[in-house]
Amino acid sequence: MTLASLNLNIQLNASDDAIDRAAAHRYRESVPNLRGHWNETLAVILNHRSVRHYLTRPLEAGIVETLIAAAQSAPSSSNVQAWSVVAIEDPEQKARFAAYAGNQKHILDAPLLLVWIADLARVNVIAEAEGTSAEGGQYLEGFLVSAFDATFAAQNALVAAESLGLGTCYIGALRNRPLEVAEDIGLPPRTTVVFGLTVGYPDPKVETGIKPRLPQEAVLHRGRYSLEAQQQPIARHDDHSLNFRREQKLDATPWRVLALNRLRDAAALKGRHVLKEKLEKLGFEFK
Ligand SMILES: Cc1cc2nc3c(=O)[nH]c(=O)nc-3n(C[C@H](O)[C@H](O)[C@H](O)COP(=O)(O)O)c2cc1C
Repeated sequence: MTLASLNLNIQLNASDDAIDRAAAHRYRESVPNLRGHWNETLAVILNHRSVRHYLTRPLEAGIVETLIAAAQSAPSSSNVQAWSVVAIEDPEQKARFAAYAGNQKHILDAPLLLVWIADLARVNVIAEAEGTSAEGGQYLEGFLVSAFDATFAAQNALVAAESLGLGTCYIGALRNRPLEVAEDIGLPPRTTVVFGLTVGYPDPKVETGIKPRLPQEAVLHRGRYSLEAQQQPIARHDDHSLNFRREQKLDATPWRVLALNRLRDAAALKGRHVLKEKLEKLGFEFK
């Protein structure tokens, strides 16, 4: 064996160790065929966890712009770029946003809240200036495209933030009060909040574990979808999830009950059952 191939072997083994450790955290069981591919990007992505406890340390100059460059590097449907983002750092404004989102304390603590906007206003203004129409945006497809664009952009920003040692947490609860959010940040018609994202340095005193995900057999189908094949993996996931919750000192509710609780009935949507009507008030149409 040459020195070069020995080095390569050692590196591969180190990578296999790293992927095994990452898989053990993410799935709490071994995953076939996961070995052999590993790099820093995968390490950041597989180590994701939402952070709800932040240091008061402010963000360095240029962080916001760096995150937005990552966000703008996401794919965009037909490159229409139908999204915008509003950065909120003022404590009083953050306090109002925490209230819109059901008093989530991490919004107060994080130095930055990014509010991601589905934005069909920009293309509409361009259409008016060009003396033409952007009527295509008035179909459900238009809303989906703008919400997708905002989502992919936000997720790129999230990965970039985590790669810089920052913590983040999505705030979907801003959709409980989209009209108040729109008013607060001066949104024009045909724009709406999709969600917020808190960004800050994680408080090292509060260790947040990596939340297990469903075994791959439950989500990965080859050639043909199967509900039946998911039953046993879901049962395993309930066990893994209970172990995670025990470690994090959370109540012992199985994953399937937690998932159901979020979608049980209209009341569980915390105001979002009337989202369509509110979006129509904000100028969206769903033809
Ligand atoms: C669209 C979206 C909205 C979310 N909204 C909230 C929220 O309002 N508050 C919160 O604390 N976490 C929120 N989360 C975080 C999820 O609870 C979290 O991603 C999930 O429990 C998995 O945990 P993990 O991100 O640590 O892996 C949201 C996540 C997503 C993707």
